[in-house]
Amino acid sequence: MSNQDSNALSKEPQSSKPRLLITRRVFPAVLDALNEHFEIKHNDADEPWGPEQMRANIAPMDALYTVATDRIDAAVIAAAPQLRMIATGSVGYNHIDLGSCRERGIPVTNTPDVLTEATADMAWALLMATARRVTESERWLRAGSWKGWAWDQFLGADLYGATLGIVGMGRIGCAIARRAQGFSMRICYHNRSESAQADALGASRLSLEELLATADHVMLVLPYSQATHHVIGAGQLQGMKSTATLINIARGGIVDDAALADALKQGRIAAAGLDVFEGEPTVHPALLACDNIVLTPHIGSATLSSRLGMAMLAARNLLAWRSGSPLLTPVPGL
Ligand code: DGY
Repeated sequence: MSNQDSNALSKEPQSSKPRLLITRRVFPAVLDALNEHFEIKHNDADEPWGPEQMRANIAPMDALYTVATDRIDAAVIAAAPQLRMIATGSVGYNHIDLGSCRERGIPVTNTPDVLTEATADMAWALLMATARRVTESERWLRAGSWKGWAWDQFLGADLYGATLGIVGMGRIGCAIARRAQGFSMRICYHNRSESAQADALGASRLSLEELLATADHVMLVLPYSQATHHVIGAGQLQGMKSTATLINIARGGIVDDAALADALKQGRIAAAGLDVFEGEPTVHPALLACDNIVLTPHIGSATLSSRLGMAMLAARNLLAWRSGSPLLTPVPGL
């Protein structure tokens, strides 16, 4: 990505344009769209800023263009007394202290819809790789361990005709369920409220305990909050089938990673596929030591069209704010 348009503001800007902080390297199209309307400071380095750098950089800013892996907590927001708008290039917004935003009247926008199908595809990629031991057997082959075909080599779990349990039946959960129909799966889901879309897909709503006990494959697609912290811990893993797979495409912290590593090691469940981690980009060392796990670096939405769609939607929200027009995708309740 070129960054010729990014202006590292070395001095206080003289223009009357609002000052915008872009916390990570973005597509040139985003800078092209915003440059005329904002005085931009852009972190175009490979490394994200730590908390201190973030507070220092945001201090003089009017607007923020952030991503899911930044931590925009109360201290960061307090460090920016003029901050008036936050656009995140993510559907999730648990990284932003909404309480502080509410108190200060700062609107927040996110990027729903544009990443739904790509993320559902990735959930399926992880499920298939996990259930059929794709990366585990590939590592073994590359290590030169393959001496010949055998009946019992890398036996995996069936997907066709199996029962899929989806925890969190929003847009992405429903998109995953639609794909499951092609595999003739029985679909069950757990959600705070009944989902008409899920019902139309023939999915049955269960309690979390029932779902975990019933499903051959469990997909986590729920937003992270204090209420969903460690929703899957030792007790819940104990309640799953010993042959089951667990996929987390949602957020780190929903699963207790230490408890999961323990369950995988003890064979309490068969395998797991994770795209998100507690404390990412650090991955719990006990998970790294497991063979029966597929690990990917938070790439659920990582197709060019999806990421560009997210990046431009965040930019369009900033432009709407700048021109006083209604925000396109505001986070509800702010
Ligand atoms: C999101 O949009 O919340 C994703 O986690 C970022 O890819």
